Amino acid sequence: MMAITVEEKTGVFHLQTDNTSYVFQVMENGELGQLYYGKKIHVRPQYPDLTIREQRNITPAWKLDKPDFQLDVLKQEYASFGKGDFRYPAYKLVLKDGSRISEFGYDRYEKRKGKQRLPALPSTFDEIGDDAETLTIFMEDKMAKLELKIVYSVFPHQDVIVRSACFVNSSETAVHLATAYSVQLDLPDDRYDLLQFSGSWARERHLLRTPLRPGVQSVGSLRTASSAQHNPFMMLARPETNEDSGEVFGFNLIYSGNFLDQVEVDQFSTARILIGINPAEFSWNLTPGQSFQTPECVLSYTAEGMNRLSQQLARFYRRHLLPARFAEKNRPILINNWEATYFDFNEDKLLGIASKAKDLGIELFVLDDGWFGKRNDDTTSLGDWFTDDAKFPLGLGHFAKQLHAMQLAFGLWFEPEMISLDSKLYRQHPEWVIHVPGRSMSPGRNQFVLDFTRQEVIDYLFAAISKIIEGTQLDYIKWDMNRHITEMFSTQLAAEQQLEMPHRYILGVYQLYERLTSKFPHVLFESCASGGGRFDLGMMYYAPQAWTSDDTDAVERMFIQFGTSYGYPQSMMGAHISDVPNGQTGRMTPMATRAAVAFFGIFGYELDITKLSIQEISQLQDQVKFYKKYRRLFQFGTLYRIDNPFVNGGNVMSWQVVSDDRRQSIACRYQILNHANPAYKRIYFKGLLPDQKYTVNNSVERFYGDELMNAGLFVRQLIDACKCASASVDFHAALFVIEAVD
Ligand code: DGJ
Repeated sequence: MMAITVEEKTGVFHLQTDNTSYVFQVMENGELGQLYYGKKIHVRPQYPDLTIREQRNITPAWKLDKPDFQLDVLKQEYASFGKGDFRYPAYKLVLKDGSRISEFGYDRYEKRKGKQRLPALPSTFDEIGDDAETLTIFMEDKMAKLELKIVYSVFPHQDVIVRSACFVNSSETAVHLATAYSVQLDLPDDRYDLLQFSGSWARERHLLRTPLRPGVQSVGSLRTASSAQHNPFMMLARPETNEDSGEVFGFNLIYSGNFLDQVEVDQFSTARILIGINPAEFSWNLTPGQSFQTPECVLSYTAEGMNRLSQQLARFYRRHLLPARFAEKNRPILINNWEATYFDFNEDKLLGIASKAKDLGIELFVLDDGWFGKRNDDTTSLGDWFTDDAKFPLGLGHFAKQLHAMQLAFGLWFEPEMISLDSKLYRQHPEWVIHVPGRSMSPGRNQFVLDFTRQEVIDYLFAAISKIIEGTQLDYIKWDMNRHITEMFSTQLAAEQQLEMPHRYILGVYQLYERLTSKFPHVLFESCASGGGRFDLGMMYYAPQAWTSDDTDAVERMFIQFGTSYGYPQSMMGAHISDVPNGQTGRMTPMATRAAVAFFGIFGYELDITKLSIQEISQLQDQVKFYKKYRRLFQFGTLYRIDNPFVNGGNVMSWQVVSDDRRQSIACRYQILNHANPAYKRIYFKGLLPDQKYTVNNSVERFYGDELMNAGLFVRQLIDACKCASASVDFHAALFVIEAVD
C-alpha cells in the first residue's frame, strides 16, 4: 500500500494510513481545498460530491465569472487572509507596502519515502523503516516572490499524519510573517466535544469536555512555555464517543513555547482547527533568501474511542519522536532528595539517604536544587553551575564516585535558563538577563531569565554543564524551569525583530538540549517546570521523562496522571511516593495508595527514607521488588482507562496496563471516599485475550479473559471494622494483578 496517492490530472492528494484517509485537492484558484479526514475510504481519482458548492448570498467570490467560488464557504488546507474567507486564517504576511493579501497558488509537489528530522526544532522521524512517506506541496505567490511549503508526513501503521508549513522569501525585499500556524483542518460539521487539559501549578492537565459552539474556543499560552495552565494536546470527539468507541481526533504540537490551539465554528457550522505558535506574541522578519519553518503538529484519528487514540499516540511517540536509545529502555527507580532535605544537606546526609536507597533496591540517586554556587535558599546562585564547596568539600566528583561505587546511578538538577541577581554570572554578565533597559524587572521565585537568543549564553551553559557531566560521570539530568518570562526583550535584537524573541528563546533552549544530548547520549533527561509546566512533545523529543507535578498527594495525582494519560504515555510521567501529611494538600493517604498511584508511571521516591519505621521500610522493599517485577508492564504496557474520575462525582478512578502479548496485566481501582452501605460494584477489565484463562491476584479461581472483560469482577467494599482504628479506609487503592495460566 502506498501511503500517499497523487492524482496528477485532478490534483487530488489522498494520504492513507492503515485505518484513516486524509484527502485534499488543488482548487480552481490554485489554493488547496480540504475534502476529508476520517475513517479510511477508497482511493478514487476525484470526489465530485465532496467539492459541490452552493452559492451563498452576501459572500464575496473569487472572481466575477465564478460567483459560486466563495472562500468563506469552502473547506481549505491553509487559508489566507483577506480574500473573502472571514474565518481566522492559517497565516498572515505583511508586505513592504503594508498590504496583507497573499495569493499562493499550487506550483508542484514532491513525494519522498521516509521522514527527515527538522534541523532546529524537535520533530518526528522514521529511522526504523516504518513506511513513512512525506509529501511537500509547493505553493507560490508570484507577485510577492514568496514560496510556501505545506508538508505532510504519513505514518501509515501508526494512523498518524504530521504537518508543518515553511515560508521562503525568494524576493529582494523583507516581509513580515505575522501568523504562521502549523496546521489548519476544516471539518464539515461542528458536532464535536472539545477535550482540553487545563489547570495550574500543582493541578496540571485536568480534563474538561465541552461541546463546540459558534465562535472561537481556544487554549493557549503566552508564557513562553507550554505551561500548566493549558496543554497543547487537545481532542475533538463526537458527543457519543467514550473510551472504547466512537470517533475522536487528537492534535498535539511539537513545541514548548507560546502556542494556540483554536477551534472556530462558523456560520455554516463547519469547524476550523488552527494549531501553532501563538500569533499574539509572534512576528518574523523574513528577509530575502530566508525561510521560516513552523513546528510540526501531530494529527491522529480513530473511530474506536479515546483509549485507542491514546494508545496509538503513545506507540507513535515511542517509535518516531522519543530518543531511540531510551524509547524502549527500562527506566530506573529513583530517589530525589528535594522533599527530604530541600536546601539543607551536606555530603554525609545525602550519603545516608543514598546507602539506604541502595539497600532498598533503588537504582538512581537524584540530587536536586542547592548543590551549586552558594545556594541555601532560592534567592541566589542560579547560573553558577559549579559545586558548592561548603556542601561538598571534596568536590561533587568525589560524591559521585561514592554513589557509583555503591552501584547507584547519579543524577543532578539544573535550571539552565535562569539567573539569580546574587550570582557570579550576573555580576559578570548583567546584560545576559532578559530585561527592557530602563524598566524594572519582575522577579519570579526571586529569579530572572537568561536571554537564550544570545549564542554566548548557550555556549557558556553548554561548557559549564558539560564540565559537571564529565566531572561526575553523570547519568541523569533534571532540567527545571521555575518562572515564566516577563519584560520579553532582547538587547541584541533589532526593533523589528523583538516579536521574534519568544520563538528564538525556545529555539535557544532546543539548541542547548540538542548539543547536550548529542554530546552525552547516555544521559537520561527529565524535563520539569515547577512540576508539569512544560509537559509537551517538544520536551519529549529530548527528555523522555517529565516531572508530572509538584503535587505528589495520591488523590490529586490520580486526576493529574489520568488527565495526562490522554496525550502522553506513562513512560513520560515521573511519579514519586512522598511523605504524609502531603506538602501541598496536608492530606494523609495510606502508603499503599501512594504506591499504587506512582506505580503507573516512572516510579520513584521523594522523602527522607532514613526516617522511616521498620514497617515502612519493609513496605518500600516490597514496592521496589513489585515494580521491578512488572516494570515493563507499568512503563510500556498498553494503557486502558476504565473509570474516569472527572465524571460521575469523581470518587472513583481505575485503569489498567496490559502486556503486548496480553497475558499479563495490572489494573488499579482507586476510591477517594468510602461510603456506608455502598452500591453493588463490579470492575470490567479491558484488553485481555477472550479465550485465555487468568488468575487475579493469584486467585484459586481461574477466569476466562471474556469473563473478566464482560462479566467483570466483584469489587469488595465493606470495611473490616477491626482494622479501621489503625488505617484510613478512605483513599483506598485496589490493585489487580492478572496473569495468564495454561
Ligand atoms: C520545582 C520542581 O518541580 C521541584 O521538583 C524541585 O526540583 C524544585 N523546583 C527545586 O527548586
